[in-house]
Amino acid sequence: MQLIDGKAVSKAVKEKIKTECEELKAKGITPGLAVIIVGDDPASQVYVRNKERACEECGFYSVKYALPAETTQEELNALVDELNTDDKINGILCQLPLPKHLNDKEVINRINPIKDVDAFHPINVGAIMIGDYNFLPCTPAGVMELIRSTGVEVAGKKAVVMGRSNIVGKPMAMLLLHADATVEIIHTKTKDDGEVTRTADILVTSIGKAKRVTADMVKEGAIVIDVGMNRDENGKLCGDVDFENVKDKCSYITPVPGGVGPMTIAMLMKNTLTAAKIQNGVK
Ligand code: GUN
Repeated sequence: MQLIDGKAVSKAVKEKIKTECEELKAKGITPGLAVIIVGDDPASQVYVRNKERACEECGFYSVKYALPAETTQEELNALVDELNTDDKINGILCQLPLPKHLNDKEVINRINPIKDVDAFHPINVGAIMIGDYNFLPCTPAGVMELIRSTGVEVAGKKAVVMGRSNIVGKPMAMLLLHADATVEIIHTKTKDDGEVTRTADILVTSIGKAKRVTADMVKEGAIVIDVGMNRDENGKLCGDVDFENVKDKCSYITPVPGGVGPMTIAMLMKNTLTAAKIQNGVK
């Protein structure tokens, strides 16, 4: 088994972005990211802090809008409108989940698609489906980079995606399909999921269930990518995969933490750089 080091791969990606950012700055352009966070969800606060730190590492301009949990939809919409027309801001990210009284779909639809660095806007989702896009959603794009880092050919392989969310599962399947894998998506209503996961040369898990994927569910020699971010019975951070038991069965595996997480943020930086180039007419 070989460990896929998400920290190392993400560091290489961010270094390349930093160099490109310096080239843009020489042209008078500084990529700018606005991050909106509403309320005080502790996990979201950690993610947002990591995003700000990555902006700093890459040389980007970044602004954080930390809004109180009682923020109204009108106030949130007004902030998005303001950022849509702010020339210093190339990318807008509204951290999800939002407090229950706020409508995330309304916010996503309001972000100018060319500033939608999450690639959650229906225009961008449609563009991805067709394969003619500016941005890829950060987590699935990061997973593809991790798979590529192994040097293993994806074309013709059987890929199984566990989970069907709009943020990870669905776009993940699409990106694997674009890379010519034969793709199957499984979910909570799938009967005998182990029967399907055992067919996977590439297994991507995004189900939010601590250590749910056991060794008997994994094919010998598979590549296993764990998108899960859960707490185990002792409150320790862990993935969807029972890492200790699965690791000896697969060819490559990502750890949690230090696997997919850092890549998601690196891909956000890549999208922000792309947004800055497009909005300034730089090829
Ligand atoms: N919450 C969990 N993942 C994400 C993500 O990729 N983007 C945003 N905006 N919120 C999230």
